[in-house]
Amino acid sequence: MNDIKVGLLGFGTIGAGVAKLLLANAEHIKGKLGTNLVLKRIADLDITTDRGVAVPEGVLTTRADDVLTDPEISVVIELIGGYEPAKSFVLKAIENGKHVVTANKALLALHGQEIFAAAARKNVEVLFEASVGGGIPVLSAIRGNMAANNFSTVFGILNGTCNYILTKMTEEGADFAPALKKAQELGYAEADPTFDIEGVDTAHKLSLLLSLCFGTRVTFSDIYCEGVSSLTATDISFAKEFGYRIKLLAIGKLDEGRIEARVHPTMIPQNSPLSDVNGAFNAIRFTGDFIGPVMFYGRGAGMDATASAVIGDVMDIGRNLLAGIGRRTAPLGYLDESMRTLTIKPMAEIVSKYYLRFSAVDQPGALAKIAGALGDAGISIESMIQTGRSTGDAVPVVIMTHEAGEGAVQKALAVIDASDIVTEKTHLIRIEESLD
Ligand code: HSE
Repeated sequence: MNDIKVGLLGFGTIGAGVAKLLLANAEHIKGKLGTNLVLKRIADLDITTDRGVAVPEGVLTTRADDVLTDPEISVVIELIGGYEPAKSFVLKAIENGKHVVTANKALLALHGQEIFAAAARKNVEVLFEASVGGGIPVLSAIRGNMAANNFSTVFGILNGTCNYILTKMTEEGADFAPALKKAQELGYAEADPTFDIEGVDTAHKLSLLLSLCFGTRVTFSDIYCEGVSSLTATDISFAKEFGYRIKLLAIGKLDEGRIEARVHPTMIPQNSPLSDVNGAFNAIRFTGDFIGPVMFYGRGAGMDATASAVIGDVMDIGRNLLAGIGRRTAPLGYLDESMRTLTIKPMAEIVSKYYLRFSAVDQPGALAKIAGALGDAGISIESMIQTGRSTGDAVPVVIMTHEAGEGAVQKALAVIDASDIVTEKTHLIRIEESLD
């Protein structure tokens, strides 16, 4: 049996992990495929920096075309990241009849439709398991063994960098900046870490999950997105006091034909399995109509785990090549004619419980005015804490609400924040109790 030749675009952290895995587990992979998976070329602008992998001579090149136009290469792995030149290279690989494996969630969240359509025309695979949940085989499970289910909810901790930072802040009282620096050193963060901390990376991943789960095209701009950069140690400590942990949660719900699609810091009960997902680990919890609740857990970032997902995809394509068949499953798992058009529920219409932390002026009647504004908007208070006097001009007042509409909450906060009873903008964190 002929070897399967693979070309790699991008020799960064994950690219080095892929090369390392292919060299280290070559015999193991051959034992499963029945043939060698050979990394024929690696293209990167920088081919001199030592990545700690002994790549055979003649493999490295600075020209992407050495990968894209090599007739022997049947699978192109794109690990450049970002939009360009990754998009042009992926489209060129497809045009040249090559199958594509990518970890590029940003590219697919924005340009997936164009790329998938090109792949359909050429009857080639585009697989992207590594783009969501690092090494966790979640996309292939949705397309594969869970395909018979209708899904109703998806909850995910999908960004290793944020989860690492929040874990350090919660467990060790660490400050935000050094925790981020450490996550970058460990190779978890994106080239631009604002994508991690502002929730953008999580929203990219959620758009892919929702497209696969609900059979509709959800793109990045459909998703409400708030990151973790404005979270404070004070909020983390209040969360503990109320029996919650704060996670950057991706939330997808199908509700009477409309989709809730949002990413934001979320308080979840301390005793829920998702609250125990720590460090760079990710977890995704689904509810399907026949499978019921199911949760995937594993390493969501880092070179080795992500390389595992990349090579799993390559092996999948390799099996098709060896069997002499083209692609068997559409990238989103749905036939084009079965895709649905579902609308996204506006944020103002979502219903949630809320944690609200006011910086109230320390004067008689301030609390009554806050409660009054909430009451006027129809928001009912579940519990409240006012801690001792602060040294500044304000005291923290924390109110946990019963379920309320986001529109009403924002209306009440607009009134309160514009008044002279608070000294700064109110901190709002949504609470998710049931996770079903
Ligand atoms: N920057 C991403 C994260 C890498 O921190 O999760 C994995 O997609």
